[in-house]
Amino acid sequence: MKDSIKIRVKDLTLIFGKRKKEALRLLTKGVSKTEILKKTGCTIGVDRATFDIKDGEVFVVMGLSGSGKSTLLRCLNRLIEPTAGEVFVNDDNITKKNNKELLEIRRSGMSMVFQNFGLFPHRTILSNIGFGLEIKGVDKKERLIKAQEAIETVGLQGFGEQYPNQLSGGMQQRVGLARALANNPEVLLMDEAFSALDPLIRSDMQDELLDLQKKLQKTIVFITHDLDEAIKMGDRIAIMKDGKIEQIGTAEEIITNPQSEYVEAFVEKVDRKTIITAETLMFKKYVTCLYAKDGPKGVLRKMREASVEVLPVIDENHKFKGFIWLNDVLSTQEEGKTSIMDTVKEEVPKVFPDCTVEEMMPLTTATKSPIAVIHPETGRLLGIISQVSIMIEATRFDKKEIIDLKKQSKEQ
Ligand SMILES: Nc1ncnc2c1ncn2[C@@H]1O[C@H](COP(=O)(O)OP(=O)(O)O)[C@@H](O)[C@H]1O
Ligand SMILES: [Mg+2]
Repeated sequence: MKDSIKIRVKDLTLIFGKRKKEALRLLTKGVSKTEILKKTGCTIGVDRATFDIKDGEVFVVMGLSGSGKSTLLRCLNRLIEPTAGEVFVNDDNITKKNNKELLEIRRSGMSMVFQNFGLFPHRTILSNIGFGLEIKGVDKKERLIKAQEAIETVGLQGFGEQYPNQLSGGMQQRVGLARALANNPEVLLMDEAFSALDPLIRSDMQDELLDLQKKLQKTIVFITHDLDEAIKMGDRIAIMKDGKIEQIGTAEEIITNPQSEYVEAFVEKVDRKTIITAETLMFKKYVTCLYAKDGPKGVLRKMREASVEVLPVIDENHKFKGFIWLNDVLSTQEEGKTSIMDTVKEEVPKVFPDCTVEEMMPLTTATKSPIAVIHPETGRLLGIISQVSIMIEATRFDKKEIIDLKKQSKEQ
């Protein structure tokens, strides 16, 4: 994913019904969706959505049925005309385009993948895939080459001459995906594309799309009503309710910091330990580090200042060396040694920032040591995680309960 912004949506609003102006006026006054429907007969499809999507990002829009996901998506390429607000793609104002320009954008810039596949039953797979190119006026030879490429991209080589009904649901959806990819669009709009598939096939398709995305680096707007799918697919997730975007963030951000009761209820059942990572859990600001060159006196002083009995040791490049324990420093001092290096425990648990709580759980039973979070390439110390914080996260007990449990197990 790049840092540049691909799609910028500003105050996008879509109202269904005849008295749009009146409904829009009420909406901006803060009147509810239900109330507006009663008063004007208009349905609020999308309510002042504002967000940016980054280049190469998988941006998931998630919400219950009727929350406005499909409407929002269709406003992006103006399959539905927005009532108010603006959509920019590459800083180009889509809302200001004429019909001809719009057609071009839909054909080349943004391709759509639908839930019901939308394949033509009487056309072969290859011809279905080439359809978008055909209406663009691409000649037959080039069409075939591009369609053949796309068929290989989705792993359906050998099926080109078959017809849609000869293929399973999962394969048909791959054809849908290949058709969208054949146009080589910058943006893929996927509306519940996997929702009709059996769970196992669905999971395979998710994996395949993620794999493909690593190579293709498209900007994907992916719609789903399924939270697990949202978490798996999304670089970021936007949660919609009643046409409004309630919250946008990474799965981890949303789960650790839900900004409304609605979102909190939505994410309550998520298995947090598979999502929360070392990066979120680690202390970094308050970590006192020792340098390998420090002597026992300096170490004791730093431990006293930080009121801890264990500290991380780093070298001059901030590369993590290990942990050092108070008791060991005291013995070193008694023995009259001036270097702490022999005393540093190097065989300690180390993880990378993206390691999940679930993956760290086995480390908590093996040792009492804190866990060092290190940079995957440089080995620099990024932060440390106490065993207690992993146990709290894994069990969702509160801190006091854990400390009591620990005491009990010590006493036994
Ligand atoms: N063509 C339409 N005419 C009137 N209301 C519509 C139309 N399409 C959708 N709606 C309403 O707009 C809201 C959002 O619908 P939709 O975008 O289809 O939600 P989702 O895709 O999240 O299930 C719902 O209240 C729905 O009933
Ligand atoms: Mg929908």
